Amino acid sequence: MSAPLPDPLPVVSVGAGGMGRAWLQVLRASPDVELVGVVDLDLDAARAAVADLGAPDLPLGTDAVELARRTGARAVVDVTVPVAHHPVTTAALFAGLPVLGEKPVAATLAQSLSLAAAAEVTGQLFMVSQSRRWNPQLARLAQQVSALGAVGAVSVDFFKAPRFGGFREEMAHPLLVDMAIHHFDAARYLLEGEPVSVYCEAWNPPWSWYHGDASASAVFEFSSGARFTFDGSWCAPGAETSWNGSWRVSGEHGTARWSGDDEPEVDTTAPVPTTEVTAHDGIAGSLAIFVDALRSGTVPGGEVHENVLSLAMVEAAVESAARRERVLLDDVLARAREQAVAEETRDDVRAALEGWGSVREALVGFAPRAADTSP
Ligand SMILES: NC(=O)c1ccc[n+]([C@@H]2O[C@H](COP(=O)([O-])OP(=O)(O)OC[C@H]3O[C@@H](n4cnc5c(N)ncnc54)[C@H](O)[C@@H]3O)[C@@H](O)[C@H]2O)c1
Repeated sequence: MSAPLPDPLPVVSVGAGGMGRAWLQVLRASPDVELVGVVDLDLDAARAAVADLGAPDLPLGTDAVELARRTGARAVVDVTVPVAHHPVTTAALFAGLPVLGEKPVAATLAQSLSLAAAAEVTGQLFMVSQSRRWNPQLARLAQQVSALGAVGAVSVDFFKAPRFGGFREEMAHPLLVDMAIHHFDAARYLLEGEPVSVYCEAWNPPWSWYHGDASASAVFEFSSGARFTFDGSWCAPGAETSWNGSWRVSGEHGTARWSGDDEPEVDTTAPVPTTEVTAHDGIAGSLAIFVDALRSGTVPGGEVHENVLSLAMVEAAVESAARRERVLLDDVLARAREQAVAEETRDDVRAALEGWGSVREALVGFAPRAADTSP
């Protein structure tokens, strides 16, 4: 029998880089959790982060499970680099610790399937913080879309010109891999059904300051028959869109639009629901939803099985751009499962992966968890 969860919930945060520091502020400010320790392979980075947080005495470590044991933490927030998501989250889940992890779920689709299987084997919650999913304006857009009847098309324009320096300027597909996942995930939130296929072109304009393809256009077919179109660039100076993108949803009974920064607008004669949408927002919203899910035993949006299809959309778009062909999501998922089985080092996780029927069935049909969590 597991002990009841303390309130506030003691947590350790892993990864004290740029985004990790933003998380530390949110964890310190939240009434739902108590930040009891900070982990980073680079202890100097952890030390500097807690000093800047005004909490220089917080326990530090280089291993999340070890520090959680030392401090009595009952959950882990994983804000490490994508390649570390799989090892850090797997270790935490098998130590009985639920995990709230930064996007992307893992560095590869294969690793993300391994994490979904690890969540099944351990019975622990692993939720991905896809922070832009929790924008209240997006929730109100979804409410408007529900009044439009059948949806025919969703499109998003994303045009910006940031100069990040660092890893994004070296990646092969910075826009698709590092950014478009937010828009793909939001499209899944807006549309009924799930993505079936994609045709994508990716290219790098002559003036681009990125090494890889900074521009892309993709058309996804959804199981409802609707099409989702993404057009974007990270080297598009002038008339920039919102970071959330600029959206248009065309349905049987009208059209809804969202600039990404202002309240969405709907043009329809159909009645639009007016119920208050939950006021969660950004990473603080992810945290509140995670803690609520742990206490209630419900399965939150962003639970690993639910989130994996957003990463699958990214990998399918990259593959389509490379092959210059329409790519089926089910083919991408099947190959990722083969890779996950081949790479898996844990017998129990490999058995869970092999026990799935189709990958899509395993992801979409995932059953709710028990209400408690072991220490
Ligand atoms: N939601 C958003 O809008 C958003 C924005 C930026 C970054 N992110 C995500 O946040 C994550 C972190 O990004 P970042 O920009 O902070 O990266 P970063 O490189 O600034 O920091 C990552 C930190 O993790 C540490 N680390 C790496 N491997 C580790 C391990 N095995 N154990 C402990 N610590 C380890 C590194 O030493 C580093 O300090 C990424 O997954 C990124 O995609 C999300």
